Amino acid sequence: MLFENISVLQEDFTVAEGQSVGVRDGKIAYIGARPPEGGWGDRFDGRRALLTPGFVNAHSHAPMVLLRGYAENLPLHRWLNEKVFPFEDRMTDSSMYAGTLLAAAEMLRFGVCSFTDMYMRIPAMARAVLESGMKCNLCRGLTVFDGTDYKSLSNYPDNIAFLHDLHGAGEGRLLIDFCIHGEYTSHPGAVAGVAEHAKEAGVRVHVHVSETQAEVEGCKQRHGKTPVRYFYDLGLFDQPTTAAHCVWLEGEDFALLKEKNVTVAACPVSNMKLASGFADVPRMLESGIHVALGTDGAASNNNLNLMKDLFLFAALYKGRSGDPTVVTPAQALAAATVEGWRSQGRSGCGAIREGAPADLVVFDLDKPWMYPKTDLVNNLVFAAQGSDVRLTMVDGKVLYQDGEYKTIDIEKVQFMVQKETDGILEGLK
Ligand code: NI
Repeated sequence: MLFENISVLQEDFTVAEGQSVGVRDGKIAYIGARPPEGGWGDRFDGRRALLTPGFVNAHSHAPMVLLRGYAENLPLHRWLNEKVFPFEDRMTDSSMYAGTLLAAAEMLRFGVCSFTDMYMRIPAMARAVLESGMKCNLCRGLTVFDGTDYKSLSNYPDNIAFLHDLHGAGEGRLLIDFCIHGEYTSHPGAVAGVAEHAKEAGVRVHVHVSETQAEVEGCKQRHGKTPVRYFYDLGLFDQPTTAAHCVWLEGEDFALLKEKNVTVAACPVSNMKLASGFADVPRMLESGIHVALGTDGAASNNNLNLMKDLFLFAALYKGRSGDPTVVTPAQALAAATVEGWRSQGRSGCGAIREGAPADLVVFDLDKPWMYPKTDLVNNLVFAAQGSDVRLTMVDGKVLYQDGEYKTIDIEKVQFMVQKETDGILEGLK
């Protein structure tokens, strides 16, 4: 495919206008002010359009789209125990499959090419990911409420099987990560077991860290240290790790995350909606911590529109800190793109550069809120809407364009999700 006369968001987060970008064999094969020679297949008229790298949703629970609108205005413990957990207990393989496909459709619609997801019934989810054409780092959530050690849990043989059967599937689009759900939903022996297994297998780790003040206070009572220090001491951060939330960091937590190169997946919408608090993202960035951006599940967001999180990420911490200079539009865009790709271990992705995988998004600039073109980067972060996305491409394949999904039968998926949800709600009566 050849994008012609298109504005391009470059690696330094400036925009070059009037470019030609050619895609061949899944990679970006040409960038230049002149049209290239040769045949490139389909042409895309890029006048009044902006080409950006694909976005990464660095923390999600895709099948939770089934819980959209189901549990609102409740404190976290009631939200979880009275609504989320009983619903999840009734979810089946077909719920996971339908939910993951709906989530994929939603993310593609908003320019997300890859996501880092923690949930359950991984083979059913993997089937949906592979069908959708998206990229995904997927892990089975590990929760254990008694003292059972890691190797006696079903997670252990499952992780081995997933690594064998699914890791690298779809020409590397699907990667398997290991998981600890959180400090308060596991015990030290399980954390150490996962850390050791991850090291042995050379895989990445996904974990919730310091989401609420109650979690941090509880951890201090149980272990005499913060969740960050706790995971650090148990070796969990020795492998590349994505730590979701990190709202209640304190003291040495910042230095420990920096030392271990942990990526924080900030989820500003979910944190606000569940009243978990406001992460100190400015201090994270100042400390040199890698920060990516996530939606969290649709039960607490309530959609997977990363552009909503991008806007909030770029505005919220200014208001919170009283300093309008913190979190620049470039830093926000880095969190939504290159930092997410890096956190997934997909180096080389997330930049419009010759030779890079063609994970690309086209934004419509022909909207009232995108004029004038004084600064397209500021417009993209503060004015653009998720629905301005016209095209989403993964590995050179167009998966969404102008209202049409190429890999997903959206009407069928919407029907399946409604049916699955109705069945679960009926069972809960
Ligand atoms: Ni989460």
